[in-house]
Amino acid sequence: MRVNFSKFELIEPYDAGDFPEDVSRKYGIAIRKIVNLNSNENPYPLPRDVVHAICAEAKEVSRYPNPKYTELKSEISSYINVPSANITVGGGANEIFSRICYLLEPFDVVVIPVPTYTMYAFYAMMHDASLKFVRSAEERNFVPSTDDIIDSGRNAKIIFLCSPNNPTGAVINPAEIEKIVECTNAIVVVDEAYAEFSGESVVNLSVEHDNLIVVRSFSKFFALAGLRIGYAVASQQIASLLEKIREPFAVSSIAVKAAIQAIKNVEYFRRIKDKIVREREYLYESLKKIEGMKPFPSSANFILAKFEIPDDKLTESLYRRGIIARSITGLLGLNGNFIRITVGRRGENKKLVAALKEIFSH
Ligand SMILES: Cc1ncc(COP(=O)(O)O)c(C=O)c1O
Repeated sequence: MRVNFSKFELIEPYDAGDFPEDVSRKYGIAIRKIVNLNSNENPYPLPRDVVHAICAEAKEVSRYPNPKYTELKSEISSYINVPSANITVGGGANEIFSRICYLLEPFDVVVIPVPTYTMYAFYAMMHDASLKFVRSAEERNFVPSTDDIIDSGRNAKIIFLCSPNNPTGAVINPAEIEKIVECTNAIVVVDEAYAEFSGESVVNLSVEHDNLIVVRSFSKFFALAGLRIGYAVASQQIASLLEKIREPFAVSSIAVKAAIQAIKNVEYFRRIKDKIVREREYLYESLKKIEGMKPFPSSANFILAKFEIPDDKLTESLYRRGIIARSITGLLGLNGNFIRITVGRRGENKKLVAALKEIFSH
């Protein structure tokens, strides 16, 4: 019997853009000289306590982590002020989206406002869901319309919302999210990977509603992208269901210790966040002054900008100058040429602005 792989033919792999080693090799630039504004990472160093926790745990990796993750959940619980019983942990927000999609049966409707993060569609397609994309208007800075989402979600099983949204940086007002949750029978999944940069969250609502799951990440605000750790908050029923189907050791022991120390050092990360927000405003104002670029206001640690250059060669021009930003021209829900720039440190942002000024003056 031959195995049939045809269901995977429609699925596009996730495009993570180019990494420093790729650009270094292709353009002959030393890696240490490359400014990486590609993946919405936190550009500041970890506090010493977190680095120590990672090094100390490295000696223990011959052992499995305790799959109950009790201490980790308890630390998250005090951070977001939600009982541990409402929390599930995972190997990054992505792993949790993948687990949530196990709720889907073939042909279940999944509503996704676009443009947005592409992984929701990816995981939903793995379960043969029927995708319904709702376009957000550029004139409204891509804030999705609540009424459109409610209309499209009438027979849906899952509605994915992303706030602040990648790549637009737009926040959905918590009152609008609550309205959607209350007007639908679908499960509303709110991706809050960037929530700490915006100051807005619906985490507290997920305890009160039995159809809301809020997914969070340690990759951005807490600067642990390489360790792969995230969590979700939901009703006790949904949280325990998601715990039940979790791969037992989904979070590595090193990630557990690092995340616990990161929460204990939350004040450090809050100061870093304030710096990133200040840098974001500097970058936004600087981009606005470049003729040919139109940045959109952002509540996250990146900025989306539309630009006018024939044939979208902007990212290549930046690569040649040792700067990596993400071309997202062609992403579903966008019309025209777009680039997404992660907010870096002041020196990095200045280099980017200088490079853009040069490129757009030609
Ligand atoms: C909107 C959004 N959600 C989730 C993720 C992935 O989070 P994690 O690293 O926790 O899997 C990303 C990563 O860029 C993202 O942009």
